[in-house]
Amino acid sequence: MINEMPTLKEKLQGRAPKIAIILGSSLGSFADAVKDPLRISYGDLAGFPIPKISGHAGELVVGKVGGKEIAVLAGRAHAYESGNPAVMRPVIEALKAAGIEILILTNAAGSLTPKMRPGSIMMLTDHINQAGMNPLIGSHGDENFVPMTNAYDLQLQKALKTAAKKEKLKLHQGVYVWYSGPSFETPAEIKMFRLLGGTAVGMSTVPETILARRFGLRVAALSVITNLAAGIEGASPSHEETKREGAKAAERMKTLLTRFFKDLK
Ligand code: HPA
Repeated sequence: MINEMPTLKEKLQGRAPKIAIILGSSLGSFADAVKDPLRISYGDLAGFPIPKISGHAGELVVGKVGGKEIAVLAGRAHAYESGNPAVMRPVIEALKAAGIEILILTNAAGSLTPKMRPGSIMMLTDHINQAGMNPLIGSHGDENFVPMTNAYDLQLQKALKTAAKKEKLKLHQGVYVWYSGPSFETPAEIKMFRLLGGTAVGMSTVPETILARRFGLRVAALSVITNLAAGIEGASPSHEETKREGAKAAERMKTLLTRFFKDLK
């Protein structure tokens, strides 16, 4: 069957954002900050997966944030929903084809250190793939041997730090550990992730970073810390807690990102 669904580029009606942002669990309210919004449902875009879990909308909103044209993706599909770590590949490819150059990834994550409390915002400096999956497995061609040394763009990291300073927001930095989920980790696993050098743990972002780098996008990523990870000070994380705490931190994330977009050269 021929897929006759319109492409993202066709749906943009002449708008040409260079920056896209994927909103993590319960950060969906960021889409409300978009001025002069053009709303496109994932269901109207070829290959876009419809998120099946609560806290994720499934809508692309294009418009101005901080004076810049941005494509805001409210909702992502996770590898754990289907077992397919490449579930977001059509989205990343569509963004690239539509002219996107920078991808900002956001997520909710658990803290691996008591020093980084719930409500904190952490910028990813690197990641550890503990999910045992890679979205490029099964792809062929030399371009799949993607260097991951500076996966999180150093210039964008610097710009995020500057934006946080200007807005007087504390911005933590660290290494994000990707755990497949959807069950949460055991306290023993969390102990191991700490020993491995992780700072936060979550169930997303890493496959999108790998895909984005594969397609030549520059990447920055931010975690909202919604909880202490399992076993730390007796913590026992839940999806309800993730949604609640994520929503609470959304306003500060909005402040940080608006400043970041505004100042981005
Ligand atoms: N573990 C994994 N994913 C998460 C967590 C966590 O503790 N909190 C929010 N997302």
